[in-house]
Amino acid sequence: MKANVIKSFGGFDTFEYQEIEKPSPRPDHVLVKVLATGVNLLDHYIREGSIVPELPFPHILGADAAGEVAELGDGVNSFKVGERVMVVPGFPGNKEELDIRPTVTAPSFGLPGLHISGTYTQYMEVPVYAIIRDETGLTVEESATLPVALGTAVHAVKGIGEVKAGHKVLIHSGASGSGAIQIQVAKALGAQVATTVRSDKKAEFAKSVGADLVINTHHDDFVNKVQEWTDGTGVDVVIDNLAGNVLPKSIEAAKATGIIVAFGFAAGPEVTFDIRSIFFSQKNLRGSMASDIEDLTWGLEQVKAGKIKPVLDKAFPLSQAGKVHELVSNSKVVGKHVLLPWAE
Ligand SMILES: NC(=O)c1ccc[n+]([C@@H]2O[C@H](COP(=O)([O-])OP(=O)(O)OC[C@H]3O[C@@H](n4cnc5c(N)ncnc54)[C@H](OP(=O)(O)O)[C@@H]3O)[C@@H](O)[C@H]2O)c1
Repeated sequence: MKANVIKSFGGFDTFEYQEIEKPSPRPDHVLVKVLATGVNLLDHYIREGSIVPELPFPHILGADAAGEVAELGDGVNSFKVGERVMVVPGFPGNKEELDIRPTVTAPSFGLPGLHISGTYTQYMEVPVYAIIRDETGLTVEESATLPVALGTAVHAVKGIGEVKAGHKVLIHSGASGSGAIQIQVAKALGAQVATTVRSDKKAEFAKSVGADLVINTHHDDFVNKVQEWTDGTGVDVVIDNLAGNVLPKSIEAAKATGIIVAFGFAAGPEVTFDIRSIFFSQKNLRGSMASDIEDLTWGLEQVKAGKIKPVLDKAFPLSQAGKVHELVSNSKVVGKHVLLPWAE
């Protein structure tokens, strides 16, 4: 079978598209035929070596897989060969830890493409509890945009951010893979959403996925705009996937006692802020990482109900992973790009 592997950390040309041995499913495991795999900014960070100092090379990146069940290991009778599935983007390797919440705190938690072998391949073997039936009716390309973005959006917005009907919420990068889905999750919960972008094209897109207020930060200061939008009180919740020099302003944009969810660091991992901006007004700065299977299940119910739509930008053959990483690392993506392991 074909996979696009990395044999060391490095640039966009580090990938080697090659033949590797096809795994056989062990007892209580399934072999998933990967029909499409989403590309996340995290994959780029891992490839360049800025997430972990070591990996067991050769390594397969990727956390988002949509496909079908290809083979069943002994003892698996809850799925049939040929059923459409998604791979859960993060699960414990030890079955005894399946009930630990949040899942990410399970000692044996593994994220495909980071702790365990990933999705940039034609087949992957996973425990049967790490697949979820795909009953969305979407194309495989669309489905592959969802597991990471949707699961983590539900975890951050509904779970950690506690967004409720009537809230006013600020979600950064409304045209990003994460932001575009977070907007839809907040809207599905009945909130009003303000979002930031840095171009008119992305502003249009953010509006199209449901943002009530779109702020182009090249023209406007988002703190001022959000203060105007909330009559000077600030928003109930901020979901911040940027960090860097943006997070201190996200704290400013939140109301007293509001919640700021630290979700990512697309604008840089180092943040400096005055601690008084948090405790004088009793604001809550919280981290959100990965998702639980309940998050993805709830999100997929919203997809089936038509409340959340996938945000597919373009699909490329798997052999072009390097090119796609370059596009994603330069923010040349609206929503998500996917790779197709079976396309030439
Ligand atoms: N916590 C979790 O579980 C979780 C899950 C998924 C992703 N993440 C993290 O969330 C972040 C975004 O991921 P993603 O997959 O959504 O990435 P993405 O689709 O590549 O989008 C990143 C966006 O960041 C914006 N951006 C980049 N540099 C910026 C800067 N200096 N200032 C302002 N905006 C900037 C760009 O938007 P514009 O071009 O419109 O400005 C770009 O669209 C990453 O750090 C990722 O690791 C976390």
